Amino acid sequence: MSNSNFLSDIQTLRDRARQHIEAGAVTAGYSADRDTVLKLLNESLATEIICVLRYRRHHFMAKGIHSPSVADEFLVHSNEEQGHADRIAERIVQLGGEPNFSPEGLTTRSHAEYIEAGSLTDMIKENLVAERIAIDSYSEIIRYLGDKDPTSRRMFEEILAVEEEHADELADLLTGLSESDVKH
Ligand SMILES: [Fe+2]
Ligand SMILES: [Fe+2]
Repeated sequence: MSNSNFLSDIQTLRDRARQHIEAGAVTAGYSADRDTVLKLLNESLATEIICVLRYRRHHFMAKGIHSPSVADEFLVHSNEEQGHADRIAERIVQLGGEPNFSPEGLTTRSHAEYIEAGSLTDMIKENLVAERIAIDSYSEIIRYLGDKDPTSRRMFEEILAVEEEHADELADLLTGLSESDVKH
């Protein structure tokens, strides 16, 4: 007997957990479309990897134009994007999928682009554009997931908050640069 109208009774929960035990964390109560969620997760993984690479490239190239503080910021972001990629890959495995790390088609799977950019200002702009793309696509994914997969949704919400910080920092760097241009 259940004490509540909306919770499954304990026996039902126990019986369900014993079925399809090989599915690990994915239970019969998982109400999202798993294939769609895995596709979204793999696209997000590609996005994060592209962001790791772009920030890495910019980190080393910005060093060359004597901008140590911006170069340092790019490295910090690159490492944080790597952390996001790892979390997403882990979630894919939890859901019984396989993280796609293949270089083949990486730029096509990714929402954000890999753009080398020449000047320091262009690098900051390209990174800001990429962050804004990530912010938009993660917001959409969060809305799509709704209550269907709260664990993936929470992960995306946490990642989204960091992407918003990144965008904010880049916008500040851009303002700082254009102000120093004015003083010249
Ligand atoms: Fe990220
Ligand atoms: Fe970011």
